Amino acid sequence: MSAPISATASAAAPAQAGRRQVLVTSALPYANGQIHIGHMVEYIQTDIWVRALRMHGHEVYYVGADDTHGTPVMLRAEKEGITPKALIERVWKEHKRDFDSFGISFDNYYSTDAEENRLLCEKIYGALKEAGLIEARDIEQAYDPVKEMFLPDRFIKGECPKCGAKDQYGDNCEVCGSTYQPTELINPYSVVSGATPIRKTSTHYFFRLSDPRCEDFLRGWVSGLAQPEATNKMREWLGDKGEAKLADWDISRDAPYFGFEIPGAPGKYFYVWVDAPVGYYASFKKLADERGIDFDAWVKPDSTAEQYHFIGKDILYFHTLFWPAMLQFSGHRTPTNVFAHGFLTVDGAKMSKSRGTFITAQSVIDTGINPEWLRYYFAAKLNNTMEDIDLNLEDFQARVNSDLVGKYVNIASRAAGFLIKRFDGRVQDSAMHHPLVGQLRTAIPTIAALYESREYGRALRTTMELADAVNHYVDAAKPWDQAKDPANSVALHETCSVSLEAFRLLSLALKPVLPKLAEAVEAFLGIAPLVWSDAANPLSSEQPINAYKHLTTRVDPKQIEALIAANRESLQPGQEGAAAASAASAASSKAAKAVKSKEPEAEGTISIDDFAKVDLRIAKIVDCKAVEGSDKLLQLTLDVGEEKTRNVFSGIKSAYQPQDLVGKLTVMVVNLAPRKMKFGLSEGMVLAASATDEKAEPGLYILEPHSGAKPGMRVK
Ligand code: 2FM
Ligand code: ZN
Repeated sequence: MSAPISATASAAAPAQAGRRQVLVTSALPYANGQIHIGHMVEYIQTDIWVRALRMHGHEVYYVGADDTHGTPVMLRAEKEGITPKALIERVWKEHKRDFDSFGISFDNYYSTDAEENRLLCEKIYGALKEAGLIEARDIEQAYDPVKEMFLPDRFIKGECPKCGAKDQYGDNCEVCGSTYQPTELINPYSVVSGATPIRKTSTHYFFRLSDPRCEDFLRGWVSGLAQPEATNKMREWLGDKGEAKLADWDISRDAPYFGFEIPGAPGKYFYVWVDAPVGYYASFKKLADERGIDFDAWVKPDSTAEQYHFIGKDILYFHTLFWPAMLQFSGHRTPTNVFAHGFLTVDGAKMSKSRGTFITAQSVIDTGINPEWLRYYFAAKLNNTMEDIDLNLEDFQARVNSDLVGKYVNIASRAAGFLIKRFDGRVQDSAMHHPLVGQLRTAIPTIAALYESREYGRALRTTMELADAVNHYVDAAKPWDQAKDPANSVALHETCSVSLEAFRLLSLALKPVLPKLAEAVEAFLGIAPLVWSDAANPLSSEQPINAYKHLTTRVDPKQIEALIAANRESLQPGQEGAAAASAASAASSKAAKAVKSKEPEAEGTISIDDFAKVDLRIAKIVDCKAVEGSDKLLQLTLDVGEEKTRNVFSGIKSAYQPQDLVGKLTVMVVNLAPRKMKFGLSEGMVLAASATDEKAEPGLYILEPHSGAKPGMRVK
């Protein structure tokens, strides 16, 4: 499972003056699910940063790995009838494929289930033990007597102690929102076997975070954090001096557990959150060994190398308390900084499988959406805070089309034709001193600095303002008119040369975000890979440009429709909330492919797959009104078990009085494409029966399920 490591090493070269050594990581994705665009926000954010630093010539290593250990992976493998190792090997390949498609430039992508990681975990644990920071204690926990395993909170369900809702998790109720202990659940059951959990005692190992040494260290370390929100959170966790708010951390789990056994403690395993961050170092160790980098010099306490972790705000606790303390007290350097980002919403709401907005990386590729468009869109929305960002699909199309095609790429396509046809593809050297070129050149260091401070939105706004200025220049110069009169040849040459040099500088500014596009631009202009210092290295008449080939296309609205269709999954009631990151969805890529190919069926029949495409749900009619101006339609407000109700116009006015339908259950097609009607948007269809010959036998009868059916239940 070793990642191919490219041989562009600067093997063990001593740091040159001003050349920084920088180790960068993104959070390790769990090995039991697909990569989705929520994950991608983080990898894209990190990748842009890494690329921007590399463009200064610094020695930067970006490492990642799959987070492979723990109960969910173990149970998932069991369910699939394969070994955990076979599961993580398969998922690793899928993850690697997705990262490659999105241009995530890991120097090494590894796995936490690696020998380097085992050795590092053992070393760190040994040092913590030596320092007197490990303590064994007996604790009582929920235990599944049938499956013979201890149960993590998420593997116990039961009735909510507050509202009585059924099938709620052991830590919080998704119906009334209250939080509680798993012991408070009424009629608890194990999600694994269905058995009633019992209480059982076992010895666990704790990292003594409450030790005053840890607290003192963390109080000092927090002052270096870059984000005020993170500092505040940490201060809240630390409390006032002497308040002793830090609790010891349970770092062991009992067999059966997929992970590393703790040395000297048979049947006890390191909790997955111990070996996950150590996995950052394991991945780097693997890279270092292959490239001859002095690993110890990078991780020793007084190392001059820098170390940064990009993470989601939900795992700040692990990265700003446990991880730095583990490193500090095991004889390692501590992170230079931790950069946390917010969550991704799609069209203003949490990603949802039933709405088709739980978008997998694979489905983006399958529907022909250029991942660089998403890189651009996310970058345009990202800043250095923990604010959530929204992917608005309409805005996405508009922005990509207007910025990348309308403003940026058009500059090259307009200028290149004239330059090739009329000037042998060579620029006018004197045009490289034009004030507009100067304006762009001076902006480059500012843009580079904005990337480094993770203000990507501002970097791109500045870049697009410059693109606007270039377009105004072209519009005013009118090369298409200049070209009509040979007397204007010099002026035309200047216009095209200024435009192309401006385009080169814009490409430099966009390169961390659009690396593939930048590569195509470099080939088109016949120049070496762009780095920041190339701002002062203009195009030259000595190097003719190559024929212009189109650099990017517009987003086609059909691609967005296909993307949503590909990700709309049929859920069993209650599955939505539990979907989380383990969004295993072969279905999504199947659906995406279905957009492209259709199997012929025997005439007059459909396959079960065709039928399965129709997502029928039980719907409760929570409101019903007549539609003004229509003698056929009723407007129904339907609860189909989603966060929001649906609005549906139905041609059943002849058969029903609105008030007679309120409170009734019926059956609805929920995945019908929404339809804009004169009276508003209809978001689905309710089913009604009528005679084959409606004229001879009029009458409409909406379907109603037997009692006991609930809104959101699947009809199949
Ligand atoms: O929250 C998660 O998805 C974890 N798999 C992240 C681990 S990050 C690091 F500590 F390894
Ligand atoms: Zn409740």
